[in-house]
Amino acid sequence: MITSSNEVLISTNGLTKQFGEQTSVDNVDLQINRGQIFGFLGPNGAGKTTTIRMLLGLMKPTKGEVKLFDKSFNNNRLDILRKVGALVEAPSYYRNLTGYENLKISSEILGVTKQRIDEVLEIVRLTEVSDKKVKQYSLGMKQRLGIALALLGSPELLILDEPTNGLDPSGIHEIRQLIKRMPRDFGITVLISSHNLAEIEMVASHVGIIQSGKLKFHGTLEELKGDNKPLVEIKVNQPAKAKEILMQQQVHAQIKGDMLFVENFDGPVYSINTKLVSNGFEVSHLVEKVQTLEEIFLDLTGREGAL
Ligand SMILES: Nc1ncnc2c1ncn2[C@@H]1O[C@H](COP(=O)(O)OP(=O)(O)OP(=O)(O)O)[C@@H](O)[C@H]1O
Ligand SMILES: [Mg+2]
Repeated sequence: MITSSNEVLISTNGLTKQFGEQTSVDNVDLQINRGQIFGFLGPNGAGKTTTIRMLLGLMKPTKGEVKLFDKSFNNNRLDILRKVGALVEAPSYYRNLTGYENLKISSEILGVTKQRIDEVLEIVRLTEVSDKKVKQYSLGMKQRLGIALALLGSPELLILDEPTNGLDPSGIHEIRQLIKRMPRDFGITVLISSHNLAEIEMVASHVGIIQSGKLKFHGTLEELKGDNKPLVEIKVNQPAKAKEILMQQQVHAQIKGDMLFVENFDGPVYSINTKLVSNGFEVSHLVEKVQTLEEIFLDLTGREGAL
C-alpha cells in the first residue's frame, strides 16, 4: 500500500487546445501525485476527454506542456507510455473473439505473460466469462475488460475516461470498488474523469473541476468543502439599522427584501443573535446554511451545466 507522495506523475503547464475558434482546453495546470485517486470532474463538453487525449500523447496541444513521470513526450514517448494504462471513451474490441483472446492479442504486443492475463481477469472479476465472446458481454463487462486491458502492462498510472458511463448502479458500484483498490492494493495512481460529482466524491482523494475548458478548482475534496463557509440568513425588524449594528462587529450583512444575509460567516452564529437581541431588535428567523458539495460544484460549473 502507498499513500499520496510528493512525486509528481502528471503535470501540465498552460495546457491549451483550440479547435478553430473554439478553445476547448484553456490554460490548464494539473498536478497529480503518486498514490492519488484524482477525480477529473466536469459537465459534458467541458474538455475532459480532450485533456486526457493530450495527456496520453494522442493529440498535440495547441499550447502548453504535458509531463508524465517528469518527462515530456519528445524523446521519451514509449518509455512513458509503458508505465501508463488508459481507457478512453468506449474502447473497441474484437467482438467475435472472447475476452481472453482480446487480452491475449494485447499481451503479445506488450510482451506480458499468460499469468498476467489471468491476474487482470481476476482483478476485474471476468474470469468466469473470459471464454465468452465479447459481443455477448454486457456494457459493464465490456468496461471491465477495458480496465483489464489497461492494467495488462502493470502500469504505475491508470487513466480512465468516464469508465462508468452508461452503467447501471451495480456496474457503477463494481467499477468504483475496483478503482479504490488501485492505489491501496496495487500501488497504482489513478486519474478518473466523470461528470458525476457523487461518484467522484466516493472514490477520489483529489479533484480538478473543469468547465468550458477552464480549471475552476484543483485540490483535495476537503479543500473543496472547506472553501465553503456558511451563509447566515436573518429576518429581523428594522434590517437597515440591524445591518449597521452588525457592521460595528465587523460583520458585513447584505439586505435583500426584508432579510439580511451574511456570507462566509466565520464566528459562532449565536453571536449574531445575541448582538441583535441585546440591542433591542426582534429576530424572527436565523438560519445557518452550509452548501452541499453539489451546490459548490454547481456554483463552480454554472447551473446550466446541472447534472
Ligand atoms: N476533434 C475535435 N474537433 C473539434 N472540436 C472538438 C474535437 N474534440 C472535442 N471538441 C470540442 O471540444 C469541447 C470539449 O470536448 P471534450 O470531448 O473534451 O469534452 P468532455 O468534457 O470529454 O465531454 P463529455 O462529458 O461529453 O465526454 C467540445 O465542445 C467538443 O465539441
Ligand atoms: Mg469525454
